[in-house]
Amino acid sequence: MNRKRVISEFNRYVDAYDPSDPKIALKITHTYRVASLCERIGISAGVDDADLAWLSGMLHDIGRFEQIRRFDTFNDALSVDHAKLGADLLFGEGLLERFVPVDNWTNPEDRPLLERAIRNHNRFRLEEGLSDRERTYCDVLRDADKVDIFRVNCETPLEDIYNLTTDELRSSGVGASARAAYDERTALLRSLKSEPIDHLVGHVCLIFELVNPLSKQIAREQGYVDCLLSFESNNPETNVWFDHMRRTIWA
Ligand SMILES: [Fe+2]
Repeated sequence: MNRKRVISEFNRYVDAYDPSDPKIALKITHTYRVASLCERIGISAGVDDADLAWLSGMLHDIGRFEQIRRFDTFNDALSVDHAKLGADLLFGEGLLERFVPVDNWTNPEDRPLLERAIRNHNRFRLEEGLSDRERTYCDVLRDADKVDIFRVNCETPLEDIYNLTTDELRSSGVGASARAAYDERTALLRSLKSEPIDHLVGHVCLIFELVNPLSKQIAREQGYVDCLLSFESNNPETNVWFDHMRRTIWA
């Protein structure tokens, strides 16, 4: 794998989307962080090709740039499935050749594996029928992406992420489904979010979906989950609930 080529082509690709735009800059930073997390988590998960894990991180959100250009939003529900868009560009329209030329692939299984990892990275659950090797790489990428999402959500004002007013967030109660998901230690489906603050509880619940032990360890060490949990509400019941989460999250 020629990493220098991948990086220079990635930089050339995103240059066309105005890297000084904060939304574009956010995705560029996210990409590099996810790529290095993929390598680190991948090695601990025993992947047979750390370069391939790294590459999956470099290319996983390539669809974000066209998504923002075409729809001016990162909200898939309001625009397009960015994972599908990225995979269609890479594997359907030949974009992958810019990063890794066709004759640079030594293992014929690697291209379809990379495509599956990218298509599956934002799904609620992995598709059925993956090989053990594919599943390992898919899980590594999904973990790395979630670990960095904690950072993004911590560094970006909640109002901007969720498109809500400060008052809506601070006065919100916690919905029954959000509480249940947290106590069952599982992810919260978007359709089950009933209150404004459920978005934040749902993001915290991503910690329960991490597959590799190192991913949880990194998430804990980075402190961004604790930062999300430091939210202070004007609603006393919500504060009691956040206390409960702070006491139990790492149990
Ligand atoms: Fe993504």
